[in-house]
Amino acid sequence: MAGFAKVGVAVAVLGLALAFGTVAVVAQDKEAEIKTRRDTMKRQGKDFKAIQDYVKGAGDQAAAEAAITDLQSIAPKIVTLFPEGTGLDAFPGKTGAKPAIWKEWDKFKQIPVALQGYEVKLAAAIRSGDKAAIGAALADTGKNGCGACHSDYREKVS
Ligand code: HEC
Repeated sequence: MAGFAKVGVAVAVLGLALAFGTVAVVAQDKEAEIKTRRDTMKRQGKDFKAIQDYVKGAGDQAAAEAAITDLQSIAPKIVTLFPEGTGLDAFPGKTGAKPAIWKEWDKFKQIPVALQGYEVKLAAAIRSGDKAAIGAALADTGKNGCGACHSDYREKVS
């Protein structure tokens, strides 16, 4: 009997260890998801700059075209970068994603849809090579696409 009891305790302890292990693994997964999100956002920032450089005369049209192609490949996937439990309430200092994202999910998920609309216009402007049009489309994209999220749902983290 005593032997069985010991095995029982051992199994219970093992179960507990596994449970804690799972929590740690989940936290690691979430941090990886935050990193993917921040890296993807930074990539969008670089693309944005490549287009800005072209408008300013510092970059070329091919680079701007590559940048908008990349942006357009990212935009439809942006919402997948925000799995639940990856906000700054759970990971302060590690992410600037505000909890409002998940509270206002229906509103939030519309922003990347709008962003795609602005990017279609931006792509057409880049193809035309008309720098004034590109500058205007880039400003619209930044303000109403990227900016719509950043103003309401993002806090800057260093
Ligand atoms: C759906 C909302 C949303 C859209 C659309 C969006 N962003 Fe973001 N962005 C965020 C949030 C939230 C953060 C903070 C992410 C974090 O800290 O985990 C962020 C962070 C960033 C950062 C800082 C990354 C870092 O970790 O330092 C850059 C740069 C950025 N975004 C660029 C862009 C650009 C450029 C666009 C438009 C082409 C864009 N974003 C569109 C929500 C969005």
